[in-house]
Amino acid sequence: MPSPIAIAPSILAADFAALGAAVRTVEQGGAELVHVDVMDGHFVPNISIGIPVVESLKKATRLPLDVHLMIDAPERYIDAFADAGADSLIVHQEGNPHLQRLLASIRHRNLGVGVAINPATPVGTLAEILGDVDAVLVMSVNPGFGGQKFLPGALGKMRRLRELREREGYKYRIEVDGGVDLHTIADITRAGGEILVAGTSVFHQPDPAEAVRKLRQTGVDALAQRV
Ligand code: DX5
Ligand code: ZN
Repeated sequence: MPSPIAIAPSILAADFAALGAAVRTVEQGGAELVHVDVMDGHFVPNISIGIPVVESLKKATRLPLDVHLMIDAPERYIDAFADAGADSLIVHQEGNPHLQRLLASIRHRNLGVGVAINPATPVGTLAEILGDVDAVLVMSVNPGFGGQKFLPGALGKMRRLRELREREGYKYRIEVDGGVDLHTIADITRAGGEILVAGTSVFHQPDPAEAVRKLRQTGVDALAQRV
C-alpha cells in the first residue's frame, strides 16, 4: 500500500554548493517530492534561489519539484518556472488579489496547483478557491527562514481543511511547512497533514536519507492511532 503521507525535503536547509548530492540522498531515503523555496527579499525578508536552480535540479532528480513561491507578483514568473521544470507551484493567498486568475494560470500550464496561507491567515479566506487547488499548504512558521519553531495554530487549520474536504468533496491534499520534525510530526499527521515539508530535520542531520525514513515512520505510526 502506498504511504498515506509524503515527505517533501526542503532544500533550503541543504548545502547549495552540493544540491545534486542532497536530492540524491533524500531520493534514496524514499522522499516523494523535493520542496524548493523561492524567496525574493520582498515578499519575505530573505533571498534564496530561483529559476536556474530549478532547471538544474530537474536534471539531477526524478522526484517531482514542488516549488513554493514566496515572491511579489508571482504571475510574472509562472511560465518561467513551468519551463524550468517545476511540477507543482504553490502561491500565497496573501498579496495576490487576483488569486483565482493566478491559480488558473498555473493549471493552464498543467502543473500541480497549490495555495499557501501564513500563520495569521484563516482557512476561511480560501473558501472561493478550494475547488481549484490540488494542495493547500498551511504555513506553520512565518515564511522566510528555515529552522523556526512549529506554531501549533496550524493544527486547527489542518483539521478544518480535512472537515471541509469531507463535507464538500474537495480533492486537495493538505501540506504543512515549517518546524516539521520528529517531535511535531505525530500531531501533524493526526491533524490531517499529508505532505510534510521538512528542511532542518532532514538536511541538518548526519544521515538525511535515514531522517526521511524516520519522519515517515513516526508520521505513519501516529496516523494508525488516530481515532
Ligand atoms: C520557510 C520555508 C520552508 C522551510 C522549512 O519559509 O517555506 O520550506 O524551508 O524549514 P524547516 O523545516 O527548517 O522549518
Ligand atoms: Zn516552503
